Amino acid sequence: MKRSHNCNALRKSDIGATVTLAGWVDRRRDLGGVIFADLRDKYGKIQVVFDNPEVNPIADTIRNEFVIWIEGTVIARPAGMENPKLDTGDVDVMVTTIKILNKSEPPPLAINDHNEECKENDDLRLRYRYLDLRRPWIQKNLILKSRFLGEVHAFFRKNGFEEIETPILCKSTPEGARDYLVPSRVNPGSFYALPQSPQQYKQLLMIAGMDRYYQIARCFRDEDLRADRQPEFTQIDVEMSFVEQEDVMGMFDNFVSEVLCKVWNFEAPQAIPRMPYSEAMLRYGSDKPDIRFGLEISDVSSIVVQSEFGVFKNVVNSGGVVRGIAATGCVEFSRKQIDDLTSYVGRYGAKGLVWMRVKDGGEVETQVGKFFTVDQLNALRDAVGAKAGDMMFFIAGPEKMASNATGQLRLEIGRIKGLMNPKVRKFLWVTDFPMFEFSESEGRYMSTHHPFTAPLPEHLDMMLNGNLKDCLAHAYDLVLNGVEIGGGSIRIHNPDVQEKVFRLLGLTAEQVQEKFGFFVDAFKFGAPPHGGLALGLDRVLATLEGQDSIRDFIAFPKNTSASSPMDNSPSPVDAEQLQEVHITLNLPKKA
Ligand code: AMO
Ligand code: AMP
Repeated sequence: MKRSHNCNALRKSDIGATVTLAGWVDRRRDLGGVIFADLRDKYGKIQVVFDNPEVNPIADTIRNEFVIWIEGTVIARPAGMENPKLDTGDVDVMVTTIKILNKSEPPPLAINDHNEECKENDDLRLRYRYLDLRRPWIQKNLILKSRFLGEVHAFFRKNGFEEIETPILCKSTPEGARDYLVPSRVNPGSFYALPQSPQQYKQLLMIAGMDRYYQIARCFRDEDLRADRQPEFTQIDVEMSFVEQEDVMGMFDNFVSEVLCKVWNFEAPQAIPRMPYSEAMLRYGSDKPDIRFGLEISDVSSIVVQSEFGVFKNVVNSGGVVRGIAATGCVEFSRKQIDDLTSYVGRYGAKGLVWMRVKDGGEVETQVGKFFTVDQLNALRDAVGAKAGDMMFFIAGPEKMASNATGQLRLEIGRIKGLMNPKVRKFLWVTDFPMFEFSESEGRYMSTHHPFTAPLPEHLDMMLNGNLKDCLAHAYDLVLNGVEIGGGSIRIHNPDVQEKVFRLLGLTAEQVQEKFGFFVDAFKFGAPPHGGLALGLDRVLATLEGQDSIRDFIAFPKNTSASSPMDNSPSPVDAEQLQEVHITLNLPKKA
């Protein structure tokens, strides 16, 4: 079954050669006696021709996705019949021998869809994932990923990083999601957790003196799934000793310009811009701003509070804010479009959406005009930077909601106006995150990043004095086109500070000992200052490929209910298996 060439190898210069090829039948056409078939493999496609009584009876029986082997002679395609869409489009192979290596049932997915579409529903694609992956336009994602990983390894090795594996069966590391648990048969009643990230291990490796660590690390998180979230995903995980924030960020600045620019063939950004979290939230209503386009947000609270517009005045007077945005060139938005936008922001908690048009002379026209003086309307226009031909939008409410809803409105207008060009790559470092976030559902402060992140040195005292609200962290996220592709921080290396942070997060001394005892102990034996970052490998790929979903960059992903329609995992197990791990089930009653 040897092949002399793959299905993408033959060119004009091979005309006359005797070749052997193998692959899948992409499609077969019978033109009254002469049979044409496209033969496909990972490398591409080539047209083979059957036009002799030895082979045609067999060629008659082949169907899409049959696996065949042929021997034949390379011939030129007749003038005018070349196919410029195929690399092999100048030639055909005239078949002298054919063997059917395997038959195929009619495939449930159209693998040879020439529009590169996936028309089936997602679960059908995942059920037959091996066929879905046979599609060249999906296959290319995995090939790209493999090539990218090669460059990733080369980069970190060149920079003196050691690749070190860390356990999959481990003690839980808190990254803010739920753990996947694995029962231990030999330790009845005890469980391993699958790592949400190798965070604690990589820090222990720094204490172990390994200096520079990296790993292509599989992470597991039981959280609500979205297009850019899988329960099992991969990080390019990095940790460095004796470094400051600049050193870690600098390493990834280089990673972007040396690895990403090379693999995706785009020009390196001069310098990746940086923006403090508070500024990102104010100007973009997001901690991961998409800076491919403007439409920046402004706070107009101090203007509207002077107006007679009750809705806005009341919000500001009760501690809320009003945020506005100039939708450039959107003065012609229809009533319907505005209504759609109003219900869109409603999803993010906005109780309404005030709009104002800037007319040709610069004057502002709005339904709520009677509540504002002309000066106030002009002040609003200037505050949001609107010009003639623009539409202004305003959202009032508690800061977090108003900021987020305006940020979502900005993105939606960006989509409507086609401002999110996937060919444009805008990287951004977001820095100075809050150290803690108050969780309404938990009724306590939680770590914004993870509990090993250090506060800014100048905020240490503030934190130790219990001011959690204003304390900023030594943490940084890398954002690409509005997607958080990575996050990291400088870590706490002082055991007393670490202990204090756990305490501030509401853990008792006993809980700290039980959950993190080994970790806290390690810091008593000379921990170097250290810090690191993890890139979401799947997100880097999807975002640079201009796709929202990371699923097609993972060979065997899960669906939105965290299951795999292909192998039916997760699935119930035998009573015996459960008994072995000392587990009895207590299932919720079926509704
Ligand atoms: P963090 O939790 O921010 O940090 O994760 C780092 C990056 O991993 C990606 N990511 C995901 N990708 C796909 N599916 C998911 N469910 C998912 N969750 C996260 C994101 C994110 O930016 N240990 C720290 C890193 C560090 O401090 O060094 C960590 O895991 O792109
Ligand atoms: P109402 O007083 O609820 O009839 O609202 C008057 C106008 O204010 C309508 O155009 C609403 O869409 C708008 N509006 C109400 N609440 C808000 C809000 N929180 N933010 C922005 N606009 C609002």
